[in-house]
Amino acid sequence: MNLPRLLRAMPKAELHIHIEGSLEPELIFRLAQRNGVALPYASVDALRAAYAFQDLQSFLDIYYAGASVLLKEADFFDMAWAYFERAAADNVVHAELFFDPQTHTARGVPMQTVIVGLHHACQRAHVEFGLSAKLILCFLRHLSEDEAFATLEAALPYRHHFIGVGLDSSERGHPPEKFARVFAKCRELGLHVVAHAGEEGPPAYIESALDVLKVERIDHGVRCVESPALVQRLAALRMPLTVCPLSNVKLRVFDTLAQHNLKALLDAGLVATVNSDDPAYFGGYLNENFVQTFAALPALTRADAYTLAKNSFDASFAAPEQKAAWTKQLDEVFAT
Ligand code: ADE
Ligand code: ZN
Repeated sequence: MNLPRLLRAMPKAELHIHIEGSLEPELIFRLAQRNGVALPYASVDALRAAYAFQDLQSFLDIYYAGASVLLKEADFFDMAWAYFERAAADNVVHAELFFDPQTHTARGVPMQTVIVGLHHACQRAHVEFGLSAKLILCFLRHLSEDEAFATLEAALPYRHHFIGVGLDSSERGHPPEKFARVFAKCRELGLHVVAHAGEEGPPAYIESALDVLKVERIDHGVRCVESPALVQRLAALRMPLTVCPLSNVKLRVFDTLAQHNLKALLDAGLVATVNSDDPAYFGGYLNENFVQTFAALPALTRADAYTLAKNSFDASFAAPEQKAAWTKQLDEVFAT
């Protein structure tokens, strides 16, 4: 099998996908009409034309505007279901979905509407596609820690519907230590903990995500290479990095995909994975991330493809027997 076909065919897990970032312009317009929400864009094409970003913040402004059409449980279900259809087609067998409840509760949408709508889509993905899907609640780091505590409290009646918490939104000026107490509480509750760090922020943010938040994965983390000591530490810990190549180019973390450091991360012994981040905004779902990145970085090999898929299972929060079963499926695809 040639490499692009193998990349598409191999079973894989997606560990860094903001479900609100999977809202395609067509669905945004359909939901706006269904809910009577006015959009500041005349058409699908006008909205898509606005997807030219200078940095993380310029993206987030449009991303939060897009999410304004989500009001009812069915809207959250439809959004997640559209993602699962695409993920299943990409041979994603397991997905851990980020969601941003504060984006919705701030508009008066009840926490229950958000979580139950997403949860029903996760259940159906398992029934229809055999795709195991879990939810990770993200705190918005541009808001206060008190607001994060209030969000956690509102979500606790639905504790059984999410496996962990994360930290996203504007990174610069909002270091992980701002959320030290709420993450400590989440760890006490037995929730998994992850955080975005080292996307636009400096290596020091990755260090404080490890030292203060005690995260189990770093989301992005690509700026770790600026500190050789940190790279060594991450490798020794086998700390997973959920890398998002197309996102990094769209948000100008790297000028081009050919300049991306994915190969360097793997060669440094880091547990890197490939993910789509906000696929509706960044030009591709998971297989597009794999195929375009391998095309742009010819140094990436078939062995790297295997490692990236295997890392995605190992870095997931699934049970060991489940990871072993997916690895067996992976071995079968590589044997053909
Ligand atoms: N929210 C959605 N996508 C994000 C990203 N790439 N970084 C930080 N917050 C986000
Ligand atoms: Zn992200």
